Amino acid sequence: MAYEHIEYRPITPNQGVEIGGVDLNNLSDAQASDIKQALVDRKIIVFRDQDISPGRYAEFMTLFGEPVVEDLAPVDDNPPNVGVIHIHPNEQQKINFWHMDHSFRPTPSPKLSLYAKILPECGGDTLFASLESAYDGLSDKTKNRIDDLWAIHKVTPTQNSKRRYTKEQYATLAATEVRHPVVGYNPANGRKFLFVNMPQYCRYIEGMEASESEALLGKLYRHVQRPEFSLRLVWRPNTLVVWENSHCLHYPVADYFPAERKLLRVAIKGEAIEAVPDVAA
Ligand SMILES: [Fe+2]
Repeated sequence: MAYEHIEYRPITPNQGVEIGGVDLNNLSDAQASDIKQALVDRKIIVFRDQDISPGRYAEFMTLFGEPVVEDLAPVDDNPPNVGVIHIHPNEQQKINFWHMDHSFRPTPSPKLSLYAKILPECGGDTLFASLESAYDGLSDKTKNRIDDLWAIHKVTPTQNSKRRYTKEQYATLAATEVRHPVVGYNPANGRKFLFVNMPQYCRYIEGMEASESEALLGKLYRHVQRPEFSLRLVWRPNTLVVWENSHCLHYPVADYFPAERKLLRVAIKGEAIEAVPDVAA
């Protein structure tokens, strides 16, 4: 794939790209097309030194789908589809594990974005792992074992869930079990991906004995964490990242206490996870 209208700098051989030579305030159709393709190809796309308003941020994100009203409360008169992740000074960030957002929903957000506004002097990096790369890195034996399995996902409280949901909303979520294929299929590029999440969300494999299910999911979750499948993003103010949430895990590094960290966030409307064609549902 030739990218003729953007600067394209891969971050690792298998995933991630820094895109330069663009101003997100003013994209040509050809640049927008390259950017959309780059996200399909690389899973995580990074823009540096972008100075855009919250309103323009939401508008830019329509390239990738429909931005939804945020469950992270909007602030500072931002549009309702621009949320904020804000760790205040002297507040400890408690989310520091590999995870995907929303796998406990029937239609997880396929794409998420963060836009850095206030950062620690150093630290507070975010790691992203490609679940397509992780699937490709499995042995044939494991692929054959998991290709037609389904897993049950269910929410567990996190630091953000208290901010995102009312008690009633949370009670509904906590009572809902959601079923997803363990191996998903991405129609945009024909690749398979390993759809696993942390054990607090990805609970068990359907029809499998409990200890066997726990061992297999634990093995797959650890497999995704191999460094070959991930990149580490070092933020700078006005760095903007878009990633394919349902094809990635991410890990926000909580190493910057007592400093402040504030990022804007946009989430794209959820989509069901496709099973591999011909796999029995
Ligand atoms: Fe997250």
